[in-house]
Amino acid sequence: MKIIHTITEMQQYSKEQQRKGKIIGIVPTMGYLHDGHLSLVDTARKNGADCVVVTIFVNPIQFAPNEDFDKYPRDLQRDCTLLEAKNVDAVFAPSVKEMYVEEPTCLVVENKLSRGLCAKTRPTHFQGVTTVVAKLFNAVLPDIAVFGQKDAQQARVLKRMVRDLNFPIRLVISPLIREKDGLALSSRNKYLSAEERENALVLSRSLKEAKEALEAGNTSIDSAIETIKNNIAAKGGKVDYVECVDSETLEDVRTKTGREIMFVLAAYFGSTRLIDNILFTY
Ligand code: PAJ
Repeated sequence: MKIIHTITEMQQYSKEQQRKGKIIGIVPTMGYLHDGHLSLVDTARKNGADCVVVTIFVNPIQFAPNEDFDKYPRDLQRDCTLLEAKNVDAVFAPSVKEMYVEEPTCLVVENKLSRGLCAKTRPTHFQGVTTVVAKLFNAVLPDIAVFGQKDAQQARVLKRMVRDLNFPIRLVISPLIREKDGLALSSRNKYLSAEERENALVLSRSLKEAKEALEAGNTSIDSAIETIKNNIAAKGGKVDYVECVDSETLEDVRTKTGREIMFVLAAYFGSTRLIDNILFTY
C-alpha cells in the first residue's frame, strides 16, 4: 500500500494508474477509521474501482472556531494498518500546509441543499466540505467517489457539486453502518462517556420506531418528529434538529408521497454532537 503525502505525487500515481487502465475509486475520510469507513472501501470495489485511494485529512476549514478541530482524534499509523488489511491501494494523507498554502480565497459553495439541517448550527461547515472534496478530487483524479449515508446531507450536497461543476466522477452513497446495539459508527463516539453512550442509543431506537409507526399507519410525520424529540430529551440529550425530508431535495416532507424520505437528526449528549438518520420509502 502506497502512502502519499503530496498533491504532485498523488496526481502522478493516479495518472500512472489511469495509463494502466485502472478505475480509480476515492474514499475521502478524516481518519480515525472504523468499520463504517472501511465499508466504503468495499462499496468502491463493488462499484468497479480496481484502484482504491483512501484520503485521510482532518480539514480545518469545515470546523468552526468553537468546534473540535484540535481534539479531533488522529492516528495515521493505526489507520494505515486497517487499510492495508483491506488491500487498499494507496492512502493520501496530506498536511494542512500541503492542502492550504495559505487561507484559501477561492471556495466551492453549494447554495441550496447546504442551507438547512446541520447548516443551521454549522453555517460554514458545508463550504469547507465542498471545497476540500473538490481539492481532493483534483489531487486523486478519481472515476468513482464513495460517501456514507451516515452524513446524509453531506452526500447530497456533494452529489449536487459533482453534477453542477461537471466533475467526471460517479458518486456512490454507501449504507449507514451501526454497532450491534444500533449506535451509528462515528469517530466522535470516542468522546462519549459510558452513560452518554447508553443514552445515545435513543437516537437509532427512536428513528426505527418512527419508521415502523409510519409504515403501520399508526402516526403522522409531525407526531413522529415530536415523539423522537421527546424521547431524546427524556434521555438527557439536547436536540439540535429532527426533520423529515425528501432524500434527494432535502425539502420537508409531511405527507405520504411514495418517494424515498429520511428522518434526519442531530443531538448533543454531553458536549458531543451526534447525527443519525433513517432512509425509507413512504
Ligand atoms: P468522516 O467523518 O471521517 O467520514 C468519512 C466518510 O465515512 C463519509 O463519507 C461518511 O459519511 C462515512 N461514514 C462515517 N461513518 C459512517 C457509518 N457509520 N456508516 C457509513 N459511512 C460512514 O465526512 C467526512 O469525514 C468529511 O466531511 C470529508 C467528506 C472527508 C471531508 O473532509
